[in-house]
Amino acid sequence: MTPPTPTTGPLRHFLQLRDLSAAELSYVLERARVIKDKFKRYEPHLTLHDRTLAMVFEKASTRTRVSFEAGMYQMGGSVIHLTTNDSQLGRSEPIEDTARVISRMVDVIMIRTFEQERIERFAAHSRVPVINGLTNEFHPCQIVADIFTFIEHRGAIAGKTVAWIGDANNMSYTWLQAAEMLGFTLHVSTPPGYELDAARIGTPAPGVLKQFDDPLEACRGAHLVTTDVWTSMGYEDENAERLKAFADWCVDAELMAAADPQALFMHCLPAHRGEEVTGEVIDGPQSVVWDEAENRLHAQKALMEFLLLGRL
Ligand code: CP
Ligand code: NVA
Repeated sequence: MTPPTPTTGPLRHFLQLRDLSAAELSYVLERARVIKDKFKRYEPHLTLHDRTLAMVFEKASTRTRVSFEAGMYQMGGSVIHLTTNDSQLGRSEPIEDTARVISRMVDVIMIRTFEQERIERFAAHSRVPVINGLTNEFHPCQIVADIFTFIEHRGAIAGKTVAWIGDANNMSYTWLQAAEMLGFTLHVSTPPGYELDAARIGTPAPGVLKQFDDPLEACRGAHLVTTDVWTSMGYEDENAERLKAFADWCVDAELMAAADPQALFMHCLPAHRGEEVTGEVIDGPQSVVWDEAENRLHAQKALMEFLLLGRL
């Protein structure tokens, strides 16, 4: 058997998008292209031979689980799937102790959890790279896949406009980091009372962020229109209140018509047709949501490879 390639460089985590430099993010995106092309040609890509990924889910998942699990196996490694309830995390074992133990046995860890502070504590006690598979604050793996998808369909995203319609959630804050890193403009429209937190966003560079009361104005001229559920995981108690507050923040044909004629529609999924997006839009010709979901696989393979092996 071929021995595994030694891990190179200092320990790197991916807890938020800006844990990569803009140049490193561009490298990961280019590498995802190579890896996807090989996958489509049925060419093996076994750079993580003999490596083990542990996945820790404290919230539900379909795409994140399948893409990380399939991706690691496709690269020659193996995977361990843990959830809160089937591990000692569900019986109050401290997150720090969990990180210390798991990271002595595997090569890379993906965790989906609640507060960003929790994944930061986990990473601080891990000997191996930790990847954010979604927290309340960020969803960086999804945004890498989304940008890869935009580039596939429309070329470079620098200089373009992305319209975010709906909740100021983990996806929107990660889009904001992407806009700052890659030089595009993010238009955000949220209902009153659900705006981006001024303390979290600070003062973005001129031209990075524009906020709109009217979702139609936010979509005007946009090259990509994107949204997400009105109620993210962990906020279910607010669902009834949110259904009312967000009623006018549904991406429909009228909003898409205000965007650039070549605009794409994205949604990280799972989607609620008739709430944040109409069936006509998500199942229509401008929607690239299935490519977007598939690209989680290719983008995360590139990301894991980069965190473990650096540039190849
Ligand atoms: N988009 C996304 O992260 O999907 P899952 O919740 O199914 O993993
Ligand atoms: N914002 C959503 C994304 C789900 C993939 C959530 O956090 O539930």
